[in-house]
Amino acid sequence: MKFFIDTANLNEIKEAHELGVLDGVTTNPSLMAKEGIKGKDNVFKHYKAICNIVDGDVSAEVIATDFTGIIKEGEELVTIDDKIVVKVPMIKDGVRAIKYFSDRGIRTNCTLVFSAGQALLAAKAGATYVSPFIGRLDDISQDGLELIEQIRLIYDNYSYETQILAASVRHTMHLLKCAEIGADVMTGPLSVMTALLNHPLTDSGLAKFLADHKKVNG
Ligand code: G3P
Repeated sequence: MKFFIDTANLNEIKEAHELGVLDGVTTNPSLMAKEGIKGKDNVFKHYKAICNIVDGDVSAEVIATDFTGIIKEGEELVTIDDKIVVKVPMIKDGVRAIKYFSDRGIRTNCTLVFSAGQALLAAKAGATYVSPFIGRLDDISQDGLELIEQIRLIYDNYSYETQILAASVRHTMHLLKCAEIGADVMTGPLSVMTALLNHPLTDSGLAKFLADHKKVNG
């Protein structure tokens, strides 16, 4: 399973990279705004800075919502670095744009996916990744993980190569259940990855090992 970090914060991206488990980065306009990145030049420089840290794919989201605008933005975004994947919203013009990009070898991440039907459309259009937002479904009392299961089944039925990128992952149970179901990728905050480290028996076991060592070695 690939681990992507869902942030535009360079320090967090560096920390996840240094841990040695980072496979990529996803961003969105809200995450870029959170870092105070504004203006096209600064946005492009920031994406380049992210690409310089990580070895894997970096999703950069378009702002345009019309076909022509999405194509223009996407074609500019991919000039930043080979790692850039164009993130396109699940709207009619977005699906058309994904097909356009796919036909030209430009990789895409179809975002804001909340149903299996949307995921099927994204795969048919040739999206590289599809991003179902599981946390936001849970927020409205719909089972986000059930959606991941549905999409896995549909993609496997027809051998679609589109990778399921479980997004809006909020905690370790989301991550682990996604791994059980077979999501190809999960994207979440650094805290979800580091929370996997924790177990009280690890802490108490290590304390005992060190104490026993000290008894003999001083
Ligand atoms: O990047 C998209 C998605 O991961 C957003 O997550 O926590 O804002 O629902 P969240």
